[in-house]
Amino acid sequence: MCGIVGYTGTRAAMPIILEGLKRLEYRGYDSAGITTISNGKVNSLKAAGKLRELERQLASQHLPGSCGIGHTRWATHGKPTTENAHPHCSGTISLVHNGIIENYLLLKKDLQTKGYIFQSQTDTEVIAHLIHSLYDGNILSAVQKAIPKLHGAYSLLITDSNQPGTLICVKHQSPLILGFGDGENFIASDIPAILNQTRQFIFLEDSDLAVVTAQDCQIYVNGIPVERPVKTVSWSPAAAEKDGHKHFMLKEIHEQPRALRDTLRGKYVDGKLVLDDLQLSHQEITDIKRITLVACGTSWHAAMVGKYYLEKYTSIPTEVDIASEYRYRRKIIDSSTLVIPVSQSGETADTLAALKEAKSMGAKILCICNVMDSSIARESHGVLYTSAGPEIGVASTKAFTTQLAALYLMTLYLAQQRQQLNSTQIAVKVSELQAIPDAMEQVLRDSERYARFAERYHNYPDFLFLGRSYNFPIALEGALKLKEISYIHAEGYAAGEMKHGPIALIDENMPVVVIATPSEVQDKVFANMEEVMARKGKVVAIATNSTAPEAVSDTFIVPEVSDELSPLINVIPTQFIAYHIADFKGCDVDQPRNLAKSVTVE
Ligand code: G6P
Repeated sequence: MCGIVGYTGTRAAMPIILEGLKRLEYRGYDSAGITTISNGKVNSLKAAGKLRELERQLASQHLPGSCGIGHTRWATHGKPTTENAHPHCSGTISLVHNGIIENYLLLKKDLQTKGYIFQSQTDTEVIAHLIHSLYDGNILSAVQKAIPKLHGAYSLLITDSNQPGTLICVKHQSPLILGFGDGENFIASDIPAILNQTRQFIFLEDSDLAVVTAQDCQIYVNGIPVERPVKTVSWSPAAAEKDGHKHFMLKEIHEQPRALRDTLRGKYVDGKLVLDDLQLSHQEITDIKRITLVACGTSWHAAMVGKYYLEKYTSIPTEVDIASEYRYRRKIIDSSTLVIPVSQSGETADTLAALKEAKSMGAKILCICNVMDSSIARESHGVLYTSAGPEIGVASTKAFTTQLAALYLMTLYLAQQRQQLNSTQIAVKVSELQAIPDAMEQVLRDSERYARFAERYHNYPDFLFLGRSYNFPIALEGALKLKEISYIHAEGYAAGEMKHGPIALIDENMPVVVIATPSEVQDKVFANMEEVMARKGKVVAIATNSTAPEAVSDTFIVPEVSDELSPLINVIPTQFIAYHIADFKGCDVDQPRNLAKSVTVE
């Protein structure tokens, strides 16, 4: 998610916008830019890299004017270069954008035939030219005509140098707020950006279009004026960065439905999966004989779920390896081997080294990655980006669920290209996946129940997590999350392995979290639960209404989804268990001791 800041008033716009962008920088960005308007002239500066690079250049290149827009970018379409940084401009129109335009390629082709020349690879520049193509001197009417042609999610902030002092903004499935001052007004994607300027906000709703000047603000829906309540926000700046949540991790847990929707956006078009960035020809896909997934940490757990998906739907023998192990073992690789590195950061040293080695031996490399143009993305032949947005909590949450979705999409895509699933089957699978964000929202509403659970369970020294099949990796992930942030010893096991060791540990002091949602192996999971209870272990079940077990210590009910997609739902209770226990114990949830977000050394 990118950051947007706008100002119109009587003070110099540039320092206010730069300060606002700085306040969003904690989320990590790859490029930035500011445009101001003075005397009907557009002044613009953009720079790749951290905001301090833009700031350094601004020191010698002042942007005059008391109205302007600014942006920090987290690349989705096009690399993080100066050309791709926002604002983008067409004639007198400049704009910044947060979100994804799904139909940008179609629009781009159409605009190119009308003579528009594109300077960037972004979907945003398409919006600028589209508005320009509909412009007859009235910016409001041009924007109103452009909006119905845009498919996807977006918030937009637009200036027209013919109308200095006026900012137009549009919100559609991507946040945008208005802030009110005395003779000046502000626009931002996030409260922290302008919290030092005002505490009076309007939270725009989807389909709102606002025309903002220094003295006035009018909001429209489909051309009809509407009123929105002005709210006073009393958050501290630190709380605002976390969207009012106590920690980034909690914020990121709650962002999962949005992250998932963004990851799915634009991937299924006219009854077909379209994953253009994979860059594999039909023949290359048909020729794949073996797949290896390599990753570290939480990403390795996602990769483990991916193996189930790939083998089920493509019938290609698939193995999963920890990148640090894979690097140093004998590998059987040729040009029919597909290697899939999975990485949130795209910079993990072991994953990168494993990729390079497999590539040098002739494998095709398709990575799943959250950071555009990261080392792993650049080294790979093709990429499937997750759109989790910047993840700040060291313990990965939203990156994990978007990786699961990406692995599912990649699997269905390979099966589609290899004609192992027909279009009707793909349509059913995609619609099941598209329903997951709503199901996640149901689980997220229960956060407080997990807080009460943490009060009762935070003192246990050990936990066991059990799952089978698709949910075996979720047992591993649940245990990892708990030990990472609460420092409680926890182990994840395939439930069927319990009797080969961990059962010796079970007594009344051992809580055992069992993933017991509907599946082909449900009876076996229930038998494992009985074995725990027979030894006085405390069973904490994650189940649905139809599988809720009797006589266990605690049950967390989750909505019922297909077995293969249940990891996307079932992981959320384990995230909440870890989070609330760590919080109750007063641990540093976002920066646990000894851990780093991105491990760039071996
Ligand atoms: C570190 C992080 C984990 C992450 C792992 C792999 O250990 O703390 O959250 O899962 O690295 O990182 P990657 O960026 O490659 O997914």
